Amino acid sequence: MSREPASSIPLLKSKIQKSPVPVHIGVIMDGNGRWAKKQGLNRNEGHRKGAQVIDGLLETASDLGVRVISLYAFSTENWKRPATEISALFNLLDEFILSKLEKMKANSIRLKVSGNLKKIPKNSRQLVENAIIETEKNKKIVLNFCINYGSMDELERAVTLVIQRRVEKISAKKNPWDNSAIKNILKKVDYKEIHSALDTHDIPDVDLLIRTSGEMRLSNFMLLQSAYAELYFTDTLWPDFSDIHLMQAIEEFQKRNRKFGGIDE
Ligand code: IPE
Ligand code: IPE
Ligand code: MG
Repeated sequence: MSREPASSIPLLKSKIQKSPVPVHIGVIMDGNGRWAKKQGLNRNEGHRKGAQVIDGLLETASDLGVRVISLYAFSTENWKRPATEISALFNLLDEFILSKLEKMKANSIRLKVSGNLKKIPKNSRQLVENAIIETEKNKKIVLNFCINYGSMDELERAVTLVIQRRVEKISAKKNPWDNSAIKNILKKVDYKEIHSALDTHDIPDVDLLIRTSGEMRLSNFMLLQSAYAELYFTDTLWPDFSDIHLMQAIEEFQKRNRKFGGIDE
Protein backbone atom coordinates (compact mmCIF):
# COMPACT_ATOMS: atom_id res chain seq x y z
CA MET A 1 0.00 0.00 0.00
CA SER A 2 1.35 3.42 -0.92
CA ARG A 3 2.01 6.00 1.74
CA GLU A 4 -0.27 9.03 1.71
CA PRO A 5 1.29 12.49 1.93
CA ALA A 6 1.42 13.76 5.51
CA SER A 7 -0.94 16.63 4.66
CA SER A 8 -3.79 14.20 4.00
CA ILE A 9 -3.70 12.91 7.60
CA PRO A 10 -5.68 15.78 9.23
CA LEU A 11 -8.17 15.63 6.34
CA LEU A 12 -8.73 11.91 6.77
CA LYS A 13 -8.99 12.38 10.53
CA SER A 14 -11.72 14.99 10.29
CA LYS A 15 -13.58 12.89 7.70
CA ILE A 16 -13.51 9.84 9.99
CA GLN A 17 -14.68 11.84 12.97
CA LYS A 18 -17.96 12.68 11.21
CA SER A 19 -19.20 9.05 11.56
CA PRO A 20 -19.14 6.59 14.46
CA VAL A 21 -15.77 4.90 14.86
CA PRO A 22 -15.50 1.23 15.83
CA VAL A 23 -15.71 0.76 19.61
CA HIS A 24 -13.39 -2.27 19.61
CA ILE A 25 -10.64 -2.84 17.05
CA GLY A 26 -8.82 -6.17 17.00
CA VAL A 27 -5.45 -6.37 15.26
CA ILE A 28 -3.56 -9.43 14.06
CA MET A 29 -0.13 -7.82 13.87
CA ASP A 30 1.47 -9.99 11.20
CA GLY A 31 4.48 -9.68 8.89
CA ASN A 32 7.37 -8.80 11.21
CA GLY A 33 9.50 -11.67 9.89
CA ARG A 34 8.91 -10.79 6.22
CA TRP A 35 9.62 -7.11 6.93
CA ALA A 36 12.97 -8.05 8.47
CA LYS A 37 13.83 -10.38 5.59
CA LYS A 38 13.15 -7.61 3.08
CA GLN A 39 15.60 -5.35 4.93
CA GLY A 40 18.20 -8.13 5.23
CA LEU A 41 17.72 -8.19 9.00
CA ASN A 42 17.19 -10.86 11.60
CA ARG A 43 13.49 -11.78 12.32
CA ASN A 44 13.83 -10.39 15.83
CA GLU A 45 14.63 -6.95 14.38
CA GLY A 46 11.27 -7.14 12.66
CA HIS A 47 9.59 -7.83 15.99
CA ARG A 48 11.47 -4.88 17.53
CA LYS A 49 10.30 -2.54 14.77
CA GLY A 50 6.80 -4.00 15.08
CA ALA A 51 6.67 -3.21 18.79
CA GLN A 52 7.70 0.38 18.09
CA VAL A 53 4.63 1.18 16.00
CA ILE A 54 2.17 0.29 18.78
CA ASP A 55 2.61 3.50 20.72
CA GLY A 56 1.62 5.91 17.94
CA LEU A 57 -1.30 3.77 16.86
CA LEU A 58 -2.67 3.69 20.39
CA GLU A 59 -2.50 7.44 20.54
CA THR A 60 -4.33 7.84 17.23
CA ALA A 61 -6.99 5.26 18.16
CA SER A 62 -7.51 6.95 21.50
CA ASP A 63 -7.75 10.38 19.84
CA LEU A 64 -10.39 9.12 17.43
CA GLY A 65 -12.53 7.77 20.27
CA VAL A 66 -11.85 4.03 19.89
CA ARG A 67 -12.53 2.46 23.32
CA VAL A 68 -10.74 -0.90 23.06
CA ILE A 69 -7.84 -2.10 20.95
CA SER A 70 -6.91 -5.78 21.13
CA LEU A 71 -3.43 -6.59 19.87
CA TYR A 72 -2.53 -10.19 19.04
CA ALA A 73 1.04 -10.33 20.36
CA PHE A 74 1.64 -14.06 20.91
CA SER A 75 -0.63 -16.96 20.00
CA THR A 76 -0.98 -20.37 21.66
CA GLU A 77 0.53 -21.74 18.44
CA ASN A 78 3.56 -19.42 18.51
CA TRP A 79 5.28 -21.80 20.99
CA LYS A 80 6.18 -23.81 17.87
CA ARG A 81 8.78 -21.14 16.99
CA PRO A 82 12.50 -21.44 17.86
CA ALA A 83 13.25 -20.84 21.56
CA THR A 84 15.47 -17.84 20.69
CA GLU A 85 12.61 -16.12 18.87
CA ILE A 86 10.17 -16.86 21.69
CA SER A 87 12.51 -15.38 24.28
CA ALA A 88 13.12 -12.30 22.08
CA LEU A 89 9.34 -11.79 21.87
CA PHE A 90 8.90 -11.95 25.65
CA ASN A 91 11.88 -9.64 26.16
CA LEU A 92 10.18 -7.14 23.87
CA LEU A 93 6.97 -7.48 25.85
CA ASP A 94 8.91 -6.77 29.07
CA GLU A 95 10.59 -3.75 27.48
CA PHE A 96 7.28 -2.45 26.19
CA ILE A 97 5.64 -2.63 29.63
CA LEU A 98 8.66 -1.15 31.43
CA SER A 99 9.10 1.73 29.02
CA LYS A 100 5.43 2.58 28.43
CA LEU A 101 3.84 2.20 31.87
CA GLU A 102 4.24 5.86 32.83
CA LYS A 103 2.89 6.98 29.46
CA MET A 104 -0.07 4.63 29.80
CA LYS A 105 -0.85 6.20 33.16
CA ALA A 106 -0.49 9.74 31.80
CA ASN A 107 -2.68 9.02 28.76
CA SER A 108 -5.38 7.12 30.69
CA ILE A 109 -4.69 3.83 28.93
CA ARG A 110 -5.93 0.78 30.79
CA LEU A 111 -4.01 -2.45 30.21
CA LYS A 112 -5.92 -5.72 30.08
CA VAL A 113 -4.84 -9.13 28.90
CA SER A 114 -6.52 -11.95 27.03
CA GLY A 115 -4.77 -15.31 27.10
CA ASN A 116 -3.26 -17.70 29.57
CA LEU A 117 -0.58 -15.90 31.56
CA LYS A 118 0.14 -18.97 33.70
CA LYS A 119 2.33 -20.37 30.96
CA ILE A 120 4.44 -17.33 30.09
CA PRO A 121 7.86 -16.50 31.67
CA LYS A 122 7.42 -15.50 35.32
CA ASN A 123 9.13 -12.15 34.91
CA SER A 124 6.85 -11.11 32.04
CA ARG A 125 3.82 -12.27 33.98
CA GLN A 126 4.75 -10.16 37.00
CA LEU A 127 5.35 -7.06 34.88
CA VAL A 128 2.06 -7.48 33.05
CA GLU A 129 0.04 -8.18 36.20
CA ASN A 130 1.55 -5.15 37.90
CA ALA A 131 0.75 -2.89 34.92
CA ILE A 132 -2.84 -4.19 34.89
CA ILE A 133 -3.23 -3.12 38.52
CA GLU A 134 -1.43 0.20 38.06
CA THR A 135 -3.66 1.19 35.15
CA GLU A 136 -6.97 -0.24 36.35
CA LYS A 137 -8.59 3.14 37.00
CA ASN A 138 -7.75 4.51 33.54
CA LYS A 139 -10.78 5.19 31.38
CA LYS A 140 -9.85 6.62 27.98
CA ILE A 141 -8.95 3.44 26.09
CA VAL A 142 -8.30 -0.22 26.88
CA LEU A 143 -5.19 -1.84 25.45
CA ASN A 144 -6.06 -5.52 25.50
CA PHE A 145 -2.83 -7.38 24.91
CA CYS A 146 -3.44 -10.92 23.68
CA ILE A 147 -0.58 -12.94 25.07
CA ASN A 148 -0.44 -16.72 24.82
CA TYR A 149 -3.94 -16.28 23.42
CA GLY A 150 -5.92 -18.65 21.25
CA SER A 151 -9.71 -18.81 20.95
CA MET A 152 -9.77 -22.57 21.45
CA ASP A 153 -7.71 -22.36 24.63
CA GLU A 154 -9.89 -19.49 25.86
CA LEU A 155 -13.01 -21.58 25.25
CA GLU A 156 -11.52 -24.59 27.08
CA ARG A 157 -10.71 -22.41 30.08
CA ALA A 158 -14.13 -20.74 29.96
CA VAL A 159 -16.07 -24.03 29.90
CA THR A 160 -13.93 -25.37 32.75
CA LEU A 161 -14.71 -22.21 34.72
CA VAL A 162 -18.45 -22.54 34.04
CA ILE A 163 -18.39 -26.07 35.50
CA GLN A 164 -16.27 -24.99 38.48
CA ARG A 165 -18.64 -22.09 39.22
CA ARG A 166 -21.67 -24.39 39.11
CA VAL A 167 -20.03 -26.91 41.44
CA GLU A 168 -18.88 -24.21 43.87
CA LYS A 169 -22.38 -22.75 44.02
CA ILE A 170 -23.77 -26.13 45.02
CA SER A 171 -20.96 -27.02 47.42
CA ALA A 172 -21.71 -23.84 49.36
CA LYS A 173 -25.17 -25.17 50.28
CA LYS A 174 -26.07 -27.04 53.50
CA ASN A 175 -27.14 -30.27 51.81
CA PRO A 176 -25.12 -30.03 48.65
CA TRP A 177 -25.47 -33.22 46.69
CA ASP A 178 -29.20 -33.97 46.38
CA ASN A 179 -31.04 -34.60 43.07
CA SER A 180 -31.74 -30.94 42.41
CA ALA A 181 -28.02 -30.24 42.70
CA ILE A 182 -27.24 -32.74 39.94
CA LYS A 183 -29.99 -31.15 37.82
CA ASN A 184 -28.45 -27.74 38.33
CA ILE A 185 -25.04 -28.96 37.24
CA LEU A 186 -26.52 -30.46 34.09
CA LYS A 187 -28.80 -27.55 33.12
CA LYS A 188 -28.38 -26.03 29.66
CA VAL A 189 -25.32 -23.83 29.24
CA ASP A 190 -26.32 -20.63 27.48
CA TYR A 191 -23.94 -18.26 25.71
CA LYS A 192 -24.31 -15.65 28.43
CA GLU A 193 -22.81 -18.06 30.95
CA ILE A 194 -19.94 -18.93 28.61
CA HIS A 195 -19.40 -15.23 27.82
CA SER A 196 -19.08 -14.42 31.52
CA ALA A 197 -16.14 -16.85 31.71
CA LEU A 198 -14.27 -15.62 28.61
CA ASP A 199 -11.12 -13.52 28.96
CA THR A 200 -13.08 -10.73 27.24
CA HIS A 201 -16.10 -10.95 29.58
CA ASP A 202 -15.83 -7.23 30.39
CA ILE A 203 -15.11 -5.79 26.95
CA PRO A 204 -17.46 -5.43 23.97
CA ASP A 205 -17.16 -7.67 20.90
CA VAL A 206 -14.80 -6.76 18.07
CA ASP A 207 -16.27 -4.29 15.55
CA LEU A 208 -13.32 -4.08 13.19
CA LEU A 209 -10.73 -6.80 12.76
CA ILE A 210 -7.54 -5.82 10.95
CA ARG A 211 -4.90 -8.28 9.74
CA THR A 212 -1.72 -7.03 8.17
CA SER A 213 0.74 -8.72 5.77
CA GLY A 214 -1.73 -10.08 3.22
CA GLU A 215 -2.68 -13.28 5.06
CA MET A 216 -6.42 -13.87 4.98
CA ARG A 217 -7.06 -16.02 8.01
CA LEU A 218 -7.90 -15.54 11.67
CA SER A 219 -5.23 -17.85 13.17
CA ASN A 220 -7.29 -18.60 16.30
CA PHE A 221 -7.88 -14.92 17.17
CA MET A 222 -11.14 -13.88 18.90
CA LEU A 223 -13.29 -16.30 16.91
CA LEU A 224 -16.38 -15.79 19.07
CA GLN A 225 -15.83 -12.09 19.72
CA SER A 226 -15.45 -11.47 15.97
CA ALA A 227 -18.68 -13.25 15.02
CA TYR A 228 -19.97 -9.96 13.57
CA ALA A 229 -16.72 -8.05 13.13
CA GLU A 230 -16.00 -6.32 9.85
CA LEU A 231 -12.83 -7.90 8.44
CA TYR A 232 -10.09 -5.75 6.93
CA PHE A 233 -7.05 -7.31 5.30
CA THR A 234 -4.11 -5.25 4.09
CA ASP A 235 -0.83 -6.18 2.40
CA THR A 236 1.06 -3.69 4.56
CA LEU A 237 3.52 -5.50 6.83
CA TRP A 238 3.00 -4.76 10.54
CA PRO A 239 6.22 -2.71 11.05
CA ASP A 240 5.07 -0.40 8.22
CA PHE A 241 1.54 0.00 9.59
CA SER A 242 1.04 3.61 10.63
CA ASP A 243 -1.67 6.12 11.59
CA ILE A 244 -2.73 6.60 8.03
CA HIS A 245 -3.26 2.84 7.57
CA LEU A 246 -5.33 2.67 10.74
CA MET A 247 -7.45 5.58 9.55
CA GLN A 248 -7.90 3.97 6.13
CA ALA A 249 -9.14 0.80 7.84
CA ILE A 250 -11.62 2.83 9.91
CA GLU A 251 -12.73 4.71 6.80
CA GLU A 252 -13.43 1.38 5.08
CA PHE A 253 -15.29 0.15 8.21
CA GLN A 254 -17.53 3.21 8.04
CA LYS A 255 -18.57 2.28 4.48
CA ARG A 256 -19.75 -1.19 5.49
CA ASN A 257 -23.41 -1.98 6.00
CA ARG A 258 -23.70 -3.94 9.25
CA LYS A 259 -26.95 -5.86 9.49
CA PHE A 260 -26.29 -8.45 12.22
CA GLY A 261 -28.61 -10.90 10.49
CA GLY A 262 -31.41 -8.39 10.10
CA ILE A 263 -32.45 -6.32 7.09
CA ASP A 264 -31.88 -2.70 6.16
CA GLU A 265 -34.15 -0.24 7.98
C1 IPE B 1 3.88 -11.43 13.64
O1 IPE B 1 4.89 -11.47 12.71
C2 IPE B 1 4.40 -11.45 15.05
C3 IPE B 1 4.08 -12.69 15.79
C4 IPE B 1 3.40 -13.69 15.34
C5 IPE B 1 4.58 -12.76 17.14
P1 IPE B 1 5.47 -12.85 12.18
O2 IPE B 1 6.65 -13.23 13.00
O3 IPE B 1 4.43 -13.89 12.10
O4 IPE B 1 5.94 -12.42 10.73
P2 IPE B 1 5.91 -13.30 9.41
O5 IPE B 1 4.52 -13.81 9.23
O6 IPE B 1 6.90 -14.41 9.61
O7 IPE B 1 6.31 -12.35 8.34
C1 IPE C 1 -0.81 -14.77 14.18
O1 IPE C 1 0.27 -14.69 13.31
C2 IPE C 1 -0.35 -14.56 15.59
C3 IPE C 1 0.07 -13.20 15.93
C4 IPE C 1 0.06 -12.17 15.15
C5 IPE C 1 0.53 -13.05 17.30
P1 IPE C 1 1.07 -15.99 12.84
O2 IPE C 1 2.10 -15.54 11.91
O3 IPE C 1 1.50 -16.78 14.02
O4 IPE C 1 -0.09 -16.82 12.08
P2 IPE C 1 0.03 -17.95 10.96
O5 IPE C 1 0.96 -19.00 11.46
O6 IPE C 1 0.55 -17.28 9.74
O7 IPE C 1 -1.38 -18.42 10.78
MG1 MG D 1 3.18 -14.45 10.63
